[in-house]
Amino acid sequence: MAHRLEKRVLLEHAEDPDLRTLDGYRRLAGGYETLERAYKEMEQDEVLQELEDSGLRGRGGAGFSMGKKASFLPRGDMAKYLCCNADESEPGAFKDRELMQRNPHQLIEGIAIAALAADAGHAFIFIRGEYDEQADILDAAVAEAYEAGYLGTNILGCHRDLELVVHRGAGAYICGEETALLDALEGKRGNPRLKPPFPAVQGLYGGPTLINNVETLSNVPHIVRRGAEWFKGFGTEQSPGTKVVSVSGGVRKPGNYEVELGIPTRELIYDLAGGPEEGHEIKAFFPGGSSSPVLKAEEGLDLPYSFEAMAEAGSMLGSGSIIVCDDRVSIPHLALRTARFYHHESCGKCVPCREGTNWTVKMLERMVRGEATPMDLDIVSSVQQNIIGHCLCVLGDSMAMPVGAMVRKFREEFEEVMANPDLVLDPHAVVQGAPETLGAST
Ligand SMILES: Cc1cc2nc3c(=O)[nH]c(=O)nc-3n(C[C@H](O)[C@H](O)[C@H](O)COP(=O)(O)O)c2cc1C
Repeated sequence: MAHRLEKRVLLEHAEDPDLRTLDGYRRLAGGYETLERAYKEMEQDEVLQELEDSGLRGRGGAGFSMGKKASFLPRGDMAKYLCCNADESEPGAFKDRELMQRNPHQLIEGIAIAALAADAGHAFIFIRGEYDEQADILDAAVAEAYEAGYLGTNILGCHRDLELVVHRGAGAYICGEETALLDALEGKRGNPRLKPPFPAVQGLYGGPTLINNVETLSNVPHIVRRGAEWFKGFGTEQSPGTKVVSVSGGVRKPGNYEVELGIPTRELIYDLAGGPEEGHEIKAFFPGGSSSPVLKAEEGLDLPYSFEAMAEAGSMLGSGSIIVCDDRVSIPHLALRTARFYHHESCGKCVPCREGTNWTVKMLERMVRGEATPMDLDIVSSVQQNIIGHCLCVLGDSMAMPVGAMVRKFREEFEEVMANPDLVLDPHAVVQGAPETLGAST
């Protein structure tokens, strides 16, 4: 059952296992009715306009307008592509996993309607290699959709074609970066490309390509079905709609919660995710996954959870994944763990990221071993400043922003650990990982 503070649109009926099947999706959610109407009665521009008017912002990290991005694709007879980014490898993010697992047809319908808006004849779902179960579920759902005539050639007799392929990645975080994803899909090593040209102009196999996140595309059938005005009835002016938020770390009920954007962050963390364990307090949280700058509890808990409020506070909503640190979490050790992750995942193509993540790990290791001097804290900070904005893609920034913020906001904690390196041996000293059970609220 949904909590009174939740607003389930994408996760409506999510508890019913029948939703996964074509019959269940049709019966419970009016599945594919919108696709049928869009393909039979709507022009490309009408679909585009509805998406643009809705103000739907990308749910994969950058928060760019989905309709606007689709409108950037040039018109003409050239082959165009749509890629659904299901790589979801950011620590703290596990919402796409649940959306694909519980409601694969919602995503497929969204892809087919978005393909109409982009005039794309080929679509791909690039899913992270570790999501084996979800990839199997998608494969089965795609087969059902082909069988029913919602995919393939001459869809519903409308003289439109769409081929959809589920492509499994090989477990690299960098392949979630949109241009590395394109290289990986083309069979190359997943390295980011220089931008411009942007994928909308020159993407997969050199053709115009629309790339959107799983959650972004899952919103499409709802917007086209009920209209942009309905969608704007939720959330804030700059952050319309609902958001599936992954909450993990130091809370009693980690899980995915679908809420209206703009909900007080405190309600998300305390009322929905259960707040910290008995006897503990929240010290800080990352509002948009491991790559977002940390906010101290007193800075962030009373802010609305929206793209604009998180940006004004100097952080970001990102993919909408809150990682909570209670008072047992050692921020210096967390900074080291974060840096190690990004260093490991750096593709090494550009120097600031390859060398910057490496140096940061080495310096943080020296700090927690008690071998650093206070001056090293300034050096770590300046290395982060030299990474931000200087890399080929934002993987480097994704380490530099949170690590820089942790050093800046918790400097005394770093100094304390540097002076007493044996201070932190508690298993709770670093934040807990994402929960294995889905939908803790249900
Ligand atoms: C290192 C890195 C990893 C990323 N991983 C993902 C990911 O797993 N899923 C995703 O949707 N976007 C990811 N992104 C963002 C994508 O590059 C892109 O902005 C997004 O897929 C666009 O979709 P949206 O507009 O619907 O948000 C990543 C970006 C970077 C730099």
